[in-house]
Amino acid sequence: MQLVDAHSNKAGDRPPSALIFDSGVGAISIAREIRALLPGLTLHFGVDNGFFPYGDKTEEQLRPRIVTCASAMMHQSHADILVVGCNTASTLALPELRAALGQPVVGVVPAVKPAARASRTGTIALVATEGTVNRDYTRGLIRDYANGARVINVPAPELVRLAEAKLRGETITRDQLAPVLARIFDTPGGDEVDTVVLACTHFPLLREDLDRYAPRPVEWLDSGAAIARRVAWWLGELGIDLPATASTGALLATAPDGENAIAGAFGEFPLRALEVTGDPAARSSGQKPRHNHK
Ligand code: DGL
Repeated sequence: MQLVDAHSNKAGDRPPSALIFDSGVGAISIAREIRALLPGLTLHFGVDNGFFPYGDKTEEQLRPRIVTCASAMMHQSHADILVVGCNTASTLALPELRAALGQPVVGVVPAVKPAARASRTGTIALVATEGTVNRDYTRGLIRDYANGARVINVPAPELVRLAEAKLRGETITRDQLAPVLARIFDTPGGDEVDTVVLACTHFPLLREDLDRYAPRPVEWLDSGAAIARRVAWWLGELGIDLPATASTGALLATAPDGENAIAGAFGEFPLRALEVTGDPAARSSGQKPRHNHK
């Protein structure tokens, strides 16, 4: 019998894997980039749908929650790498996650630096959840990497729900996007914006819709491809060789599949039936995790 470290697949009986963590379907925009670069990496998803959306929660509510959920899901999935596929979580809890976990943690950084470099007008917009827009981390990123560019901060919490709706099969209309587009383009300096940072992982899922209804062509930038490259780098560091194809991953959620239709939204990835891990706060008070096999 082989002894297997619960946090590692080094015994070779599990395929190399990463767990992508988010409050909802934002993990999909990151997973698509990872799958394109690393088709042999098995992807697990950790979805804290029981606390969705993250964007309007306080730092005090989110930080311990993220660390507890992501750690429990890493333990359950036996993933080799944690990818925090969520700007709201990454801009808040990366140091704590790194301290809590033995595995590498890859976080999403809003693409301020490449956007400032790409902009010809020197005016960029940063579109994100209220949490990310107001975070010290984001302010520091702009101060250190905007390279003199003017940055228009655009909180767009409604795009999070619209991305979830799109993944449930709904069509996104011009009227639904108009308020956000107005906040980007019809604001002082908005006529100069030529590059828009999609600083929430839900938003690349709406890129085509935003592009279609924007008043003029602009560059929409996100960090997905950079995350995928970072995961590839970590696999090299860990000495992990990937097989040609990925195996079936786990789909872990903190709440049953209800209104947000998690299982359907993730249908493009090979995943086992939804496993409901339960609310971490309830669990620590003695409640048993529920399982919801559909
Ligand atoms: N996808 C998340 C992000 O990148 C958060 C969305 C939310 O739950 O508010 O910020």
